[in-house]
This record gives sequence, C-alpha cells and structure tokens, in this order.
Amino acid sequence: MSVTVALDRTAALYDRVRTVIPAIEWPVFADDIDAILDLKRRRNAVILAHNYMAPEIFHCVSDIVGDSLALAREATKTDADVIVLAGVHFMAETAKLLNPDKTVLIPDSRAGCSLAESITAADVRLMRKTHPGVPIVSYVNTSAAVKAESDICCTSGNALKVVESLGTDCVIMLPDEYLAQNTAARTRVKIITWAGHCEVHERFTAAEVRALRADYPGITILAHPECPPAVVAEADYAGSTADMSAYVEREKPARVVLLTECSMSDNVAVHHPDVSFVRPCNLCPHMKRITLPKIRRALETMQEEVTIDPALAERARRPVARMLAVR
Ligand code: 13P
Ligand code: SF4
Repeated sequence: MSVTVALDRTAALYDRVRTVIPAIEWPVFADDIDAILDLKRRRNAVILAHNYMAPEIFHCVSDIVGDSLALAREATKTDADVIVLAGVHFMAETAKLLNPDKTVLIPDSRAGCSLAESITAADVRLMRKTHPGVPIVSYVNTSAAVKAESDICCTSGNALKVVESLGTDCVIMLPDEYLAQNTAARTRVKIITWAGHCEVHERFTAAEVRALRADYPGITILAHPECPPAVVAEADYAGSTADMSAYVEREKPARVVLLTECSMSDNVAVHHPDVSFVRPCNLCPHMKRITLPKIRRALETMQEEVTIDPALAERARRPVARMLAVR
C-alpha cells in the first residue's frame, strides 16, 4: 500500500500521539500500523502491551495495556484465537500458562529480563531445602521453570497482599532483592531475599533523587519498587507501573518524574498534557526489542509461538492462578 494511503488511514491515530511522536517520524510507522490493524482482524488476534512499549505500539495497535498484573488478568478474559504479547518473554509465558489452548506469539523471543535470568529452578529447589517449610513467593519476572518450583507468584502491584495472604511469619521472596526489601519495609512478615536486580531500575540512586528535587523544586517523584530501597525512601510514592499511572491520573501533579523505564512517561504524558514530565531516561533493552515491524511479522508468519511443556505448564500455572485469586 502507498505511504499516502496509510497516512490517510492512520491520521486519527496520529492525533492521539502527536504530543510524543514528531510528525516527521509518523510516515515510518503508518504503514506497519495500518497492516497490523488489518492482520489483527483477519487473525482474530489481540495485542496485549506492557506499559513500557513505545507509544506507537502502546497507543496505536494495542487492545489491552497495563502492568504485569493487568496483563495476566486480562489474558484470562480474552476470546481471541491469538494473543500477541508486546512485552518481554516471561509475560508471554504467563499469558500462555493462562491460555494453553490459544496461540501466543512474542514478536522477538530474545526479549528477556535480567531478573528472570538471575535464578534457575535448581536455585529455587536449593532455597526450599535451606529453608524448610518457608513459602516461596516468586516474582512473575521469572521463567515457567522457576514458577513451577514456587508456592505463589506476585507482581510489583500485589507483592504486599500476596506476602500477607500466606499467614506465615516468614516468606522467601525471589528473585528481586529490592522488591523484597521494599515489601519488607511495609510488613511485619520476615522476608528472605535473593540477589537478583532489574538492570534498568538498579541504576537509579538516592543522589539522583536529591538532585531532581534541587533542580525542580516541588517536583513529585514516583519510583518503581524494583528501585533500590534508598531511592524508594526518598521518593514521594512507590508503585507498579499501573500504580504510578493511576497516581498521576488521581493527583495531577504539576511536575512529575517517573523513576522507571523511558517509554512509560511518554505513554502517561499522552493523557496528561497539563502535567510536566521530567524524563531521566533508563531504557530496558529487552522491552525495546519489540517494534512495530516485528509485531507485523509475527502476525504475518504466526511466529514466534510461545510453547511450554504441558507437564511443566501444569505446575507453573498453579502459583500464577493462586496469585490471581488474592484480592
Ligand atoms: P510492572 O508489573 O510494574 O509493570 O513491572 C514490570 C516490569 O518489568 C518492571 O520492570
Ligand atoms: Fe526486566 Fe527490568 Fe526490563 Fe522490567 S525493566 S523487563 S524487570 S530488565
């Protein structure tokens, strides 16, 4: 199709994102967007997109957007035949665990996560042996093999609730040391940690927070709980990506900084033209592997399909389902 036709057909979509995508860049996206919208209809497919997707994906081709918890919940509700997960591999695996009979595609299976890479199933078995009887809470940022060895999963949006739902004095929470420490600061439950870190959030420092306050008096600082505890302690609020988004919606701060992945600010800013966003830019290289051309190719070729051995999936599904039952 000619670029002019695609530009014409996507003009209304461009209106949505004109504050974060310069007009000169739009012709690069228009043809892929138009093709993806058509392929979705033909394949009866939905696109689930994480809050860290670039705005041309997040606002222009996605059907469901949100944090890891919302994507897991929504994955259980769709009646589409095909789910394209615009996010990293563990998110696509979680969608597949919850939809064993659907086709789940990830546009680039190399989209990993430093947290998921930091621990193996054998490590979890060893933790269980070392701490007999202590329940194991696994962050969803883990492989299906690690989930299969765990008692329950959590996300950054429900970690405290999940830990307290177990009714024990002590839990093991892995692999994110900082999420575990930030959760421990809010509960009487003793939390045994693992030394995994998010390569994006571990880079924020308390000194950076203080510099932001000095440079922008009155600024509101929101941090993701994967940030080091010293950063969270100096922030005004800490929460999952969806929680941060809801905070901006509710409080409408005059000026805000989101201590998290870059694209998140663009995606939230689209809905809040009156809020000024300061953008310290930490990119997640894994999330950024997902692009419009790769989504288009995934729908054209029905590749790459996420598969999980059925016996493993059976064991890995249980802790995810148990998490979703915690309200
Ligand atoms: P959320 O569940 O808060 O969206 O976080 C996922 C993630 O990978 C953060 O780095
Ligand atoms: Fe993993 Fe961090 Fe990237 Fe999230 S931002 S996917 S936790 S590496």
